[in-house]
Amino acid sequence: MLSNRIAVYPGSFDPVTFGHLDILQRGLSVFDHIIIAVLNNSRKDPLFSVEERVDFLRQATAHLESVTVDSFDGLLVDYVQKKKANIVLRGLRAISDFEYELQISAINKHLNPEIETCFMMTSNHYSFLSSSMVKEAAMYGGSVHELVPEPVEKALNQKFK
Ligand code: PNS
Repeated sequence: MLSNRIAVYPGSFDPVTFGHLDILQRGLSVFDHIIIAVLNNSRKDPLFSVEERVDFLRQATAHLESVTVDSFDGLLVDYVQKKKANIVLRGLRAISDFEYELQISAINKHLNPEIETCFMMTSNHYSFLSSSMVKEAAMYGGSVHELVPEPVEKALNQKFK
C-alpha cells in the first residue's frame, strides 16, 4: 500500500476546459498529488502548442499546491513509472467515452500490469463538454466563457478573430 498516492492525469488538453478542472478537483479528494501530463507527440494536429497548453494548465492550477503540470513524449506507462506513480486518472463523460477509455486502459495494463487506471465521472454539468466542442464553438463565434478559464477564452478569441 502506497502512503503517498500520486496520480498522473494525462491528456491532450487542447485546450483545458472546466470539465478537465472538475475531474482534477475531485481527483484531489482521493490522491495526495496529481501530475497533469500533457501529451507532446500526438498524431492529432493540436490547435495550441504543448507550451501553450502547459501554460494554460499552470495558470488554472496555480492555487493548487498538490498539482504539478508537465508534458510527456512516448508511452504514458513509461512516464508514469518515471514519476514513481502507479495510477492514471481519467475522466468519463458518457457511454461514448467508454470504448476509447477501455482500449487505452487495456493497452496500458498490457504494457505495464502494475499501473492502474482510475476513472472519475464528470459532473452532469460538464457532461457535454470537450476540447473539440469548445474549439468548434469558438471557431464559429460562439461564447465559451462558461466553458474554459479566462486565458483560454482570450487565446481562442485571438485565434479565431
Ligand atoms: O486527451 P486525450 O487525447 O484523449 O488523451 C489521450 C492520451 C494522451 C491519454 C493517450 O493518447 C496516451 O496516453 N498517449 C501516449 C502514448 C501511449 O502511451 N499510447 C498507448 C496508450 S493509447
